[in-house]
Amino acid sequence: MNLKLKIWRQPNKDSKGGMVNYSIEDVSPDMSFLEMMDMLNEQLIKSGDDPVAFDHDCREGICGMCSMFINGEAHGPDKLITTCQLHMRKFKDGDTIAIEPFRANSFPVIKDLAVDRSSFDRIQQAGGFISINTSGNTQDANAIPIDKHNADTAFDAATCIGCGACVATCKNASAMLFVSAKVSQYALLPQGKVEATDRVLNMVNQMDEEGFGNCTNTGACEVECPKGISLENIARLNREYIWATAKG
Ligand code: SF4
Ligand code: FES
Repeated sequence: MNLKLKIWRQPNKDSKGGMVNYSIEDVSPDMSFLEMMDMLNEQLIKSGDDPVAFDHDCREGICGMCSMFINGEAHGPDKLITTCQLHMRKFKDGDTIAIEPFRANSFPVIKDLAVDRSSFDRIQQAGGFISINTSGNTQDANAIPIDKHNADTAFDAATCIGCGACVATCKNASAMLFVSAKVSQYALLPQGKVEATDRVLNMVNQMDEEGFGNCTNTGACEVECPKGISLENIARLNREYIWATAKG
């Protein structure tokens, strides 16, 4: 396939960026999207140009790094996948593909397509963990009966990879789907209930401090989430937050 690419180029966070046109030839439909980007970068390096900066690590849908907005959709045209799992067979010869970074005030561009998502790290650090003493006298986890539905729902919430597609897709740049997944994975389990009040208050406060927008129930986040994180988690986050506020 021969393709035209329109890619956001921005040298650093303070500079003004813009779309730049490229052509790429002989792209195999079996290539992944990131392999196509590698091919473009080899072409740019050979011609003495600056390669396009983009994040990636696992290249198998686990790390959440490959944040690209492709033809107006987070992670491109396929559903329930990340950019690294997208294949070029989803496009056809002669197509023009627009590639932009995940855009949100709380995700400033570092360079080109790479954005700074350390705001997510700070939200996690505010409460997305269990502080339990594991120094040799902890109870066997299997000794605590857990309702199957709750266990499955907590596991589904725990599949959030922190990619930020929900934020990039939301017209308000809300991080509610991400935060709700991180709160839900503990809220449903006995291990998470001990610190539940502090967790939800601290994580929501940090989310607000980072400047993410409000949720207006549009649902775009759920549609574009590569892990299918459900909006039910946002309803649970709201319940947990109201309960914690009333207690506090
Ligand atoms: S909720 Fe989905 S879209 Fe949002 S960070 Fe988690 S995996 Fe990514
Ligand atoms: S590179 Fe890890 S999820 Fe895409």
